[in-house]
Amino acid sequence: MSEGILLPPAPRGALLDEATRVSRLREAIPQIEAAASGETDAVALQATLACLLWETFVQSNWCGFYRRVRPTELAVGPYQGTMGCLRIDFARGVCGACARTRAVQLVPDVHAFPGHIACDDRTRAELVVPVVAHGELRAVLDLDSPHLAGFGQAEADLLLPLVQRVFGGADVVW
Ligand code: SME
Repeated sequence: MSEGILLPPAPRGALLDEATRVSRLREAIPQIEAAASGETDAVALQATLACLLWETFVQSNWCGFYRRVRPTELAVGPYQGTMGCLRIDFARGVCGACARTRAVQLVPDVHAFPGHIACDDRTRAELVVPVVAHGELRAVLDLDSPHLAGFGQAEADLLLPLVQRVFGGADVVW
């Protein structure tokens, strides 16, 4: 059982300065891993991360997962925020680019990203992290923010290994 995470209070929607965001994420990560520890169901893990990362990333208006449901198609999974698109082809958008390349996509201004899918027109920045298990792309973790440059490289650099540790275990059931 977990009681969620304890972080310094921060107003929902605010873009904190980068040092504060990174320190907040560093504080959250061990608590998120503790909450996920021992769970092997991929949906339970996705729901828990969506919830706790939403608490951590107060600058986000969307935080959650798209799952690979066909060879080149994603379907929305557990998330927090405004309504997301239901399906995304690998050929489209920031999530599709992440799924296709398996590389983290850090997009400070989505208007400058060809093919960005505007599920919520207020979104200005996006960070998408691949979820790879046993050599298979299983999902992507998508974070959106209405702030330009709402996410930084240091946050991307902390999120990728977190996702790898949580979902990379041999016993996770997809
Ligand atoms: N903007 C994303 C689509 C997903 S949502 O914004 C929730 C993209 O371009 O892939």
